[in-house]
Amino acid sequence: MMEIQRKGAQTTMKFPEAVTIKEVGPRDGLQNEKAFISTEDKIAWIDQLSLTGLTHIEITSFVNPKWIPALADGLEVAKGIQRVPGVCYSALVPNRKGLEKALDANVDEVAVFMSASETHNQKNINKSIDQTYPILKEIVEESLRAGKKVRGYVSTVFGCPYEGDVAVEQVVKVSEALFAMGIEELSLGDTIGVANPRQVQEVLRVLLKDFPGDKLAMHFHDTRGTAMANILASMDLGITIFDGALGGLGGCPYAPGASGNLATDDLLYMLDGMGIHTGVNREGLLQAAQFMEERIGRSLPSHSLQACKGNQVIQ
Ligand code: HMG
Ligand code: MG
Repeated sequence: MMEIQRKGAQTTMKFPEAVTIKEVGPRDGLQNEKAFISTEDKIAWIDQLSLTGLTHIEITSFVNPKWIPALADGLEVAKGIQRVPGVCYSALVPNRKGLEKALDANVDEVAVFMSASETHNQKNINKSIDQTYPILKEIVEESLRAGKKVRGYVSTVFGCPYEGDVAVEQVVKVSEALFAMGIEELSLGDTIGVANPRQVQEVLRVLLKDFPGDKLAMHFHDTRGTAMANILASMDLGITIFDGALGGLGGCPYAPGASGNLATDDLLYMLDGMGIHTGVNREGLLQAAQFMEERIGRSLPSHSLQACKGNQVIQ
């Protein structure tokens, strides 16, 4: 840990030497896009991402295609990409049917997901929280038996689009249940981008009493522009795993108002500038962002992508 203290400032922020960036653009980014990106383009994009130094890419989801038509070709995508050694290829899985596809696709990691708030859970996966536990338990156990890594997500950690505030006790309860099932890492979702740095630290301080910091990842959507500040607040408490979507693509279709994840390229710009190691190549990432921007057919929200178009000396 390096410690940065500003002159005259009372507070001291701690920053890690290295951070792991997990790219969720091909899943979280594309799931909410109106334009259907062709299977061929998805594969070409993931292949580009695989060469940027990223070590973790969530390539698709195996959910009901009636709910998420944008990712209906998940199996073809997973089977079509060129796997690069050292990169973990992950997919989101809600139930047994999804797991069968994930195993057929031979992903390296299965990611299970549920919400801390009852209404979002119901709207997103058509089950109550209590009905969800046994379904996910079976998926986690079977994935582990099949030799897969297993990641868990908790959504609506910092607020729910239907219920508003979410009690931290509810986040702890769902997180405990997921870890008890055997997940190796838990990603804490600010699904609708409402969190602020103080709240992030308050919630993390509670969770860090129960779970080791190196098992927690943060998944910020940037709906209200607070995601980057929330990254700093999380790093200050020792968190070193962050999800991002290239270009700031995405959002949860079952969370009204949810916009894209924190842009991976913006996150990388900041971390590079701070001297925090990620192993990811920014130029390669920006080229991949431009590729997807052209396919989507509109400007993506990432700041660094816009700056890059300005042909400035600093990119
Ligand atoms: P359901 O309708 O309750 O499922 O949906 P069901 O078991 O009653 O089955 C109904 C039909 O769906 C059947 O087909 C099944 O075969 C089919 P039919 O007989 O009617 O033709 N079905 C499936 N088909 C393909 N793959 C499957 C599958 N499962 C059932 N896996 C279900 C339950 C969970 C499937 C549904 O609610 C669903 O697909 N939800 C997806 C929601 C989603 O993907 N949301 C976005 C991802 S979460 C997120 O973005 C948040 C996150 O980023 C973190 C954060 O930001 O907070 C992770
Ligand atoms: Mg998300």
